[in-house]
Amino acid sequence: ENINTVVFKNSTTASKAVAQEIAQLIKEKQKDNKPCVLGLATGSTPKGLYAELVRLHKEEGLSFKNVVTFNLDEYYPMEPDSIHSYVRFMKELLLDQVDILPENYHIPDGTLAKANISKYCNDYESKIEAAGGLDLQILGIGGNGHIGFNESGSLQNSKTRLVALDHITRVAASKDFGGLSNTPRTAITLGVKKIMEAKRVILMAWGEGKSNIIAQSVEGEVTNKVPASFLQEHNNAVFVLDKESASKL
Ligand code: GLP
Repeated sequence: ENINTVVFKNSTTASKAVAQEIAQLIKEKQKDNKPCVLGLATGSTPKGLYAELVRLHKEEGLSFKNVVTFNLDEYYPMEPDSIHSYVRFMKELLLDQVDILPENYHIPDGTLAKANISKYCNDYESKIEAAGGLDLQILGIGGNGHIGFNESGSLQNSKTRLVALDHITRVAASKDFGGLSNTPRTAITLGVKKIMEAKRVILMAWGEGKSNIIAQSVEGEVTNKVPASFLQEHNNAVFVLDKESASKL
């Protein structure tokens, strides 16, 4: 089974369309007096989406008071105030720019003692369940097909956990970290299972560089070599693409 794909002329128009869908969902939930539970991603891909959500808040009064968020992942070890942390990324690009309540956003903690990580990961999943599950999960995709930091080999029923990063993931990240030796070797990631349990999944990808892995994920076999291919088995997943990332479909 193939995944629904929607191709936009560029990442700006695509990001605005995704922001509209999220704004719509937030407002529907507001009308019903319900929380809107969003799974959020980092990386360069969702930056335009977050900029548009901030604009909708500042210029069109979109409120995030009923929004609850769970981020996919964080490097480990990682201090929250480091320029490399996903906590800092999320605060600067979205969370500190809108009226979300501080108790309503969650980002995996990169400062835990190793011995406490597995309990922390179980609790992270319990919090998602207690919130009613993810209404919508936003994803980017790694060049190797990873989602969150579920690298090749991650199982479809994998839980939230500490993972070793693939060499090519570290090479991609090393530009930000100023060299491979400074790049973390591990990360905490939401497991594939919780991603697959989200009621709606939107994976975004931009640029020619993602075109091969997009084609494999959408049209290739469902395999744990390409974790994004698991989304072929999700009943409400869409890949939002620009012309370049869609060019090999
Ligand atoms: C990191 C993140 C992923 C993200 C990927 C792609 O590995 N943990 O969630 O999808 O990078 O990054 P980019 O969007 O910069 O291409």
